[in-house]
Amino acid sequence: MRVLIAIMAAMAVLSGCERPPMDAVQHGYRGTGMAQIYNPRTTELVAAKQEVPVAIPSPGSEGPRASQVFKNVQVLGDISAGEFTRLMVSITAWVAPDQGCVYCHNPANFAEDTVYTKVVARRMLQMTRDINSQWTQHVAQTGVTCYTCHRGQPIPSAVWFKKKDAPYGANFMGDKAGQNTPDPTVNLSSLPYDPFTPFLLGNENIRVNATTALPTGNRQSIKQAEWTYGLMVHLSQALGVNCTYCHNTRSFQSWEGNPPQRVKAWHGIRMARSLNNDYMEPLTATFPDHRKGDLGDVAKINCETCHQGAYKPLYGASMLKDFPELKEVRPAPTQVAKK
Ligand code: HEC
Ligand code: HEC
Ligand code: HEC
Ligand code: HEC
Repeated sequence: MRVLIAIMAAMAVLSGCERPPMDAVQHGYRGTGMAQIYNPRTTELVAAKQEVPVAIPSPGSEGPRASQVFKNVQVLGDISAGEFTRLMVSITAWVAPDQGCVYCHNPANFAEDTVYTKVVARRMLQMTRDINSQWTQHVAQTGVTCYTCHRGQPIPSAVWFKKKDAPYGANFMGDKAGQNTPDPTVNLSSLPYDPFTPFLLGNENIRVNATTALPTGNRQSIKQAEWTYGLMVHLSQALGVNCTYCHNTRSFQSWEGNPPQRVKAWHGIRMARSLNNDYMEPLTATFPDHRKGDLGDVAKINCETCHQGAYKPLYGASMLKDFPELKEVRPAPTQVAKK
């Protein structure tokens, strides 16, 4: 009986762990602990999500501009009418395949802006062009399309909202700052459950130790350290990697001897912050209440929104190469200018 209880207790304790065998891949000098540990079963689940949809062949960038053919084109006026129509069909497949064109349009008048999703989608077009042209230090030439985040659904499967304060029980003073409330955001650890508001919306220092001595320079609090670890757990989870993918664990602070991925991640943090401040937050009034979080804020972007468990979204496949019109505003071809 005691053995049985011991076995059951062991099972209960271990049920939070992942079952072996695991795969290990060395990715730094031997003996430095620079290895990635993968669970092949999790890898399979992630792989299923990284398949790329087939692109409709492009009709080419020649011919009249969309701005000449349609009535109310504010962003895509520079592309050909053929490309425009192909893009409408593609964004429908990427964002609202079950709902179709009416998800964003009043079918009686495609030019009118009465459906809120169309207003959001217009801003999303600008955001996508911004990512692909201004953030190449992160997305390189691989770039993103609507599909990178949306994957065939109107709401990307990974978004975040601000979380309510979590006061201690009635007999205690103060605020837990989101700690000790196991939350999937921080892989069910006791770290603060909202590391995003300080770092991916605000620009607090992502640091556990001060770089200068007391009394003047040392402004790093324990709270900031906890937030930092919370964010780091998210980075690892969102990309499906261990800490050593970006750090040489000899020193987490030091940049020396770190894999180049850490620099990429540094830019990624700035990019996510800028997308949330410049695009998502200003859309607050456009979104209906039922799309907002407990605190009335809009859904926002973190690393998982694009990466969805992979070290590179879609394992590095570029959909952008088939949709150069999502990169930047192009000058009109000469034969149009001649007309
Ligand atoms: C995810 C939202 C979304 C979906 C789905 C969508 N559209 Fe659009 N559509 C837009 C946006 C945004 C614009 C305005 C683009 C701009 O301002 O540059 C637009 C503009 C248009 C226009 C130009 C109307 C005019 O005269 O100004 C046409 C035509 C059009 N869409 C057709 C379609 C068709 C056909 C489908 C379905 C195959 C479709 N759209 C699906 C967002 C969408
Ligand atoms: C970097 C990630 C990202 C990219 C790229 C992106 N979106 Fe979004 N999109 C979001 C997030 C986050 C939301 C907010 C989810 C919500 O509606 O609650 C959103 C919301 C939307 C909505 C509103 C959906 C609804 O039902 O409320 C539409 C429509 C939309 N996006 C269209 C597009 C189109 C079209 C593109 C490509 C031109 C695009 N998005 C590219 C992240 C992205
Ligand atoms: C995808 C890359 C990536 C992964 C994975 C990652 N980190 Fe980081 N880490 C960074 C970057 C980039 C910074 C610097 C952030 C900044 O300054 O904006 C950082 C900063 C830190 C710091 C702060 C150092 C200081 O200056 O005080 C600590 C501590 C840290 N990481 C620990 C971890 C731990 C623990 C893990 C695993 C749970 C982890 N990191 C996983 C990229 C990563
Ligand atoms: C708008 C979508 C998007 C968001 C948001 C995003 N990434 Fe990325 N990330 C990409 C793309 C696309 C690539 C592939 C670039 C390439 O091919 O080199 C990439 C590549 C990376 C790489 C390089 C991987 C490697 O093995 O070379 C790291 C590290 C990374 N991202 C970390 C992050 C972190 C950390 C965050 C959140 C703070 C983040 N990303 C947010 C789109 C995104």
